[in-house]
Amino acid sequence: MLKKSVQYIKNLPSARSFSKTTILLYDDKTLQHPFIKSWVETFKYRIALNAGESLKTLDSYSFVLKQVQNMVRSNELGGSDLNFVALGGGTVGDFVGFLASTYQRGRKLVLIPTTWLAAIDSAHGGKNGLNLDSVKNQIGTIYPAEKIYICEKVLKTLPQSELNNAFAEALKICLINQPKKFFKIEKDSRSLYQHLPYLIAGKYNIVEKDLYEKKGLRKVLNLGHTMGHVFEAIHNLSHGQAVFFGILFSLRFSLRKKYIKWSEFQRIIEKLFVIEANLTYQQAIQIPGQKVREVILQDKKKVNQGIDFIFIKSLGKVVVKTVKVNEIVTEVLRQQREL
Ligand SMILES: NC(=O)c1ccc[n+]([C@@H]2O[C@H](COP(=O)([O-])OP(=O)(O)OC[C@H]3O[C@@H](n4cnc5c(N)ncnc54)[C@H](O)[C@@H]3O)[C@@H](O)[C@H]2O)c1
Ligand SMILES: [Zn+2]
Repeated sequence: MLKKSVQYIKNLPSARSFSKTTILLYDDKTLQHPFIKSWVETFKYRIALNAGESLKTLDSYSFVLKQVQNMVRSNELGGSDLNFVALGGGTVGDFVGFLASTYQRGRKLVLIPTTWLAAIDSAHGGKNGLNLDSVKNQIGTIYPAEKIYICEKVLKTLPQSELNNAFAEALKICLINQPKKFFKIEKDSRSLYQHLPYLIAGKYNIVEKDLYEKKGLRKVLNLGHTMGHVFEAIHNLSHGQAVFFGILFSLRFSLRKKYIKWSEFQRIIEKLFVIEANLTYQQAIQIPGQKVREVILQDKKKVNQGIDFIFIKSLGKVVVKTVKVNEIVTEVLRQQREL
């Protein structure tokens, strides 16, 4: 059970609790928190990373891999006990996950997420990834971490803007399979931390049925992301804000296709308006059809001439339907007229 690899802890785990052959790879920016800086210094073998999308490249993969190789060779660290611990947000987790899964054909991996997005979403489910030129997550493996430590002290130091970025992912999970939490979670650290185990369990309930994506069951986690990626690319929004708009798009599209009842649509949409964004949905949807098409066609999840789109049937129930790219473009134009 993958779910069991998640541990909720108050403080960072002591360096002594890891094997002697542990290499810590950490986001340099987290050192701004004095308690993290002192903790990092307790590791004998450590490598600083410059987090962000630029980390998820083949160049930095090769650069860091050589640092790892030197460390392993000069200290005789190799072998099955070798353990990589990643401390950082989603980019660090994706990068170190890929590195751990490929170095010496796969060595142990522990993740300590330091952003809300990583704690709620990216640290779970085993996916890692590097970008290939401008195409995100084009290279990667599915390699679940042995342990994921969710550390209260780390998450509670994060600013509100960080939380905004992850809140849409939290609501996404509720819409997929944790309906009871939908009206309960609030956009503050305490509430989110309190409900985190349920949100994370919601993701594992899906991932565990289809870890290696053989049955297509993980697709539902893409709710809000097809159009979310369009909003992100065109308006330069944060991922969370873009996914929030992507969910709104899916809701309206679901209503138009009669997958969801009007009363249920109203009930859900009221809650969704709690997420503030730099622009309104009405402004965000004003995208030329051609641009929508361009971004969607880059989407790696496209199948033949269609896209597996996630529609909402009711709170806690979604359905996957293959739609033509043209249908999505037509729906964007329809919503532009309607709003
Ligand atoms: N593997 C998956 O299943 C999955 C799922 C969703 C997203 N992702 C990936 O996650 C990435 C986004 O994750 P992210 O938003 O965490 O990005 P990130 O790792 O770039 O972190 C965001 C910023 O916060 C800083 N930061 C991290 N922790 C901090 C802390 N405690 N205090 C202060 N600053 C801190 C980082 O240095 C960075 O500048 C994307 O690359 C996306 O593709 C992966
Ligand atoms: Zn996302």
